[in-house]
Amino acid sequence: MEGEGTDRPRLEKLPDTARMSPGSTGSYTDRASAPALPIPEPPSRTPPSSSTNVIDAVLRGKSDLFFGSREILRESYVPARLPHREEQTRKVAEILVPALRGDLPSNLLIYGKIGTGKTVVVQQVRHEFQRRPEAEGKVTFLAVNCATIDTPYSLLQTIGNSLAPTESDRIPTGWSLDRVHTALRDQIDRKGGIYLLVLDEIDRLVARSGDGVLYTLAQINTELSRSRVALIGISNDLKFTSHLDARVRSRLNEEKLVFPPYDAAMLEDILQDRAKEVFREGVVDSGVIKRCAAYATLESGDARRALALLRLAAEIAEREHAKRITSEHVVKAKSRLELDIIAECCRTLPSQCKILLYSILQMYERRRAGVLTGEVYEAYSRLCQRLGLEPLHSRSISNYLSELENLGLIRAVVVSRGRGGRTREIVVDVPIAETFPALAEDPLLAPLVRPRGPGQTILTNFDNPDRTFTA
Ligand SMILES: Nc1ncnc2c1ncn2[C@@H]1O[C@H](COP(=O)(O)OP(=O)(O)O)[C@@H](O)[C@H]1O
Ligand SMILES: [Mg+2]
Repeated sequence: MEGEGTDRPRLEKLPDTARMSPGSTGSYTDRASAPALPIPEPPSRTPPSSSTNVIDAVLRGKSDLFFGSREILRESYVPARLPHREEQTRKVAEILVPALRGDLPSNLLIYGKIGTGKTVVVQQVRHEFQRRPEAEGKVTFLAVNCATIDTPYSLLQTIGNSLAPTESDRIPTGWSLDRVHTALRDQIDRKGGIYLLVLDEIDRLVARSGDGVLYTLAQINTELSRSRVALIGISNDLKFTSHLDARVRSRLNEEKLVFPPYDAAMLEDILQDRAKEVFREGVVDSGVIKRCAAYATLESGDARRALALLRLAAEIAEREHAKRITSEHVVKAKSRLELDIIAECCRTLPSQCKILLYSILQMYERRRAGVLTGEVYEAYSRLCQRLGLEPLHSRSISNYLSELENLGLIRAVVVSRGRGGRTREIVVDVPIAETFPALAEDPLLAPLVRPRGPGQTILTNFDNPDRTFTA
């Protein structure tokens, strides 16, 4: 929860010294004149230990690429400029500006796919408001991320607690929802003024808990005497309002903005801005930004993905002690990101589905060829028995197979078997060695893992104990 007073520090407000590289000694702020100075050896009376030498070496390697704080490449950083979102920023400001005159703005819904700049645009407008002296004490921004605060109780409690003047005014857990509602109403009405309540990822809240709590919030003004609340909902799901009760829909939808995805050229501009702020001049090869933008465009114009690629490419280059970030680093970053996504995807599967995938991977690993559905079911049942679990019915397994296919982890292919005979085989679409450890994190699958030397794990292949996998 972010209340007005709990704003995280913005990097653009840091003193110039905080923007200098670890190796710089002067007080320059002009980037072009910043020489790439080596880090001077720290004066030491006693000989440095070998671990100090290692850290020195790592730091020395690092200072070559970065000019500014690497936080600038993080998702949470709010840059001074938002290329290709000027119009949306102006519209959001226009809709909310009546608050500065003490009038209640219309409720606003912002839609757009992931990474289209919805959160950062609202953050930027919020920062602008907080710079205005006339907003002081009269306009309060509150922001909740409903991806994590996704139940009616936790939502009302979190908003109420962000306004609680003392510890004893905080709303504990275990009250009735009505009581929390009353306490929240009293908190909001205490100070007076306009409250701009940002419900980010509002679609997640509705998917998890329905729209009842939105109804409560949308009509809270009828219960307030000194304060008033405008709602700003942000949704990644373009069809989100179709899940809403008609009354809630019309209340929330007073104003509506749709953020289109970025194209490759737009993503390049966004990355270029960040690169100028964060990297030393000349260390980013031509082609790097283009490639990051092109990859991210293939995946629906997501600025978050584009920034993640650039950040990871820089980290890989740094670890390799490279003097420059090259297109090859971006290619490596892309594979790494894909692996991270696969691992994350595996972690969220139900345990039985993990066991199923585990047995498919084992068979595929052994054969390096497609496996038949019947064989998969047998292997899965054997694995369940060894884990002391009851195998699911083959119908549920068929559903799980479809789910794994939809997620892109496996693929069913039709192969001909001579004389016009055709069968369906399952092939694996993920890097096997890297996927096993993600599956084995599940405690139910823990018996499949035998600890080995430090940092290493053996994944047991029960079908063939001589063939085990080392991760
Ligand atoms: N126009 C832009 N200019 C600069 N950075 C942007 C722009 N749009 C998005 N970003 C950055 O991309 C990332 C994702 O944006 P975000 O606002 O979180 O997307 P959304 O909320 O639509 O999923 C953030 O790090 C954000 O700072
Ligand atoms: Mg967002």
